[in-house]
Amino acid sequence: MKRTRVALASLCIGLAALAVQGRSVAQSEPYKVFDTRPVITEGPYLSALSDTSVSVMWMTDAPSHAKVRLHDDGNVREIEPQIDGLVPVGQRHVVTITGLAPGKRYSYEAVATRVVKLKPYWPDKGLSSSSPAATFTTFDPRQARVSFSVVTDTHEDTARIGRLMKLVDWSRTDALLHLGDAFHWLESEEQLWAKWLRPTVAAMGPGKPLLFARGNHELRGAYARQLAGYVPTPEGSYYYARALGPVHLMVLDTAEDKPDDTNVYAQLNRTAPYREEELAWLRGQVGSNGHFASAAFRVVAMHQGDWGWLPDNGAAWTALANQAGIDLLIAGHDHAFSYQPPDKVHAYHRLILGQDQLARVEATGRTLTVKVLTDKGAPVHTLTIPSRR
Ligand SMILES: [Fe+2]
Repeated sequence: MKRTRVALASLCIGLAALAVQGRSVAQSEPYKVFDTRPVITEGPYLSALSDTSVSVMWMTDAPSHAKVRLHDDGNVREIEPQIDGLVPVGQRHVVTITGLAPGKRYSYEAVATRVVKLKPYWPDKGLSSSSPAATFTTFDPRQARVSFSVVTDTHEDTARIGRLMKLVDWSRTDALLHLGDAFHWLESEEQLWAKWLRPTVAAMGPGKPLLFARGNHELRGAYARQLAGYVPTPEGSYYYARALGPVHLMVLDTAEDKPDDTNVYAQLNRTAPYREEELAWLRGQVGSNGHFASAAFRVVAMHQGDWGWLPDNGAAWTALANQAGIDLLIAGHDHAFSYQPPDKVHAYHRLILGQDQLARVEATGRTLTVKVLTDKGAPVHTLTIPSRR
């Protein structure tokens, strides 16, 4: 009898709880929602677009959680990130979209919802802000032609960035590729936006993607370890490949220019094992990637044209590039233009882009052309490579 009363009491408490829940849900929000919206202060912009994925990055003035609303032929998909089961709350937002169709046009809005106070239960919320709708088109391994614009070593000079961005024909370029050393070293989030991303994103807009190859200067400074959060890739890595129709583009990270045990790094660098992992990944591309095998051109883009500091001085990388039939290696780092045709040591064209120069790369199934211009638009060099395949 006593047990029955306890059971009945439990049932009543349970019903009461359900009733409370029901009342709360019936109201507009089951938690406190203040009349405050976040302001989108930076972006959104597209990072490391591929044929099936992209990372969208933006900032808000106040802690918020984020999602991307994706419009696809009248269907709406909302992509909300989670890390270890929790929705990230902060001012820097990254939403990676996967499962996209190649060569397809999408529109998107970046949406941020204010989190006023992150209490353990019943956090205080605010309202949402959305960016204006913007469109983008995924890359397509089968697209007939591709065009991308390349800059390098902008080194915090916003006037330089402005001059170069004006030379980009945005209606005809599929992507902006930055070959690294956007900075002298990394100190803060504001530096990252003020000295590079803000003027770059202003020119690029929310619909053209940025592809970034890390330079040696980007491994330095107190904020270097946070950089990946501002140039995110769907792969979560600074090295990646893109299937750009006739071009298989491999963006590499050449890391530092001095050995890990150089005193200036105070034993805080371990680039040697990192580069071994990267080389293993590159071997995988060469050995088993279908687009690599079929593409008319195999292009490597990276910061240091000599592969950066490596214990073997890059011998394994050069051997792999020769064996893999790489057509073009495009890099920066030297701050001056140079070009070397294939020779007995390097079986590929090597083009080093200067600091105040823009390269327009265009390729069809037959020809790859690199036009290098000064920051005033004067021609520096035109390289034309016929396909060997
Ligand atoms: Fe450099």
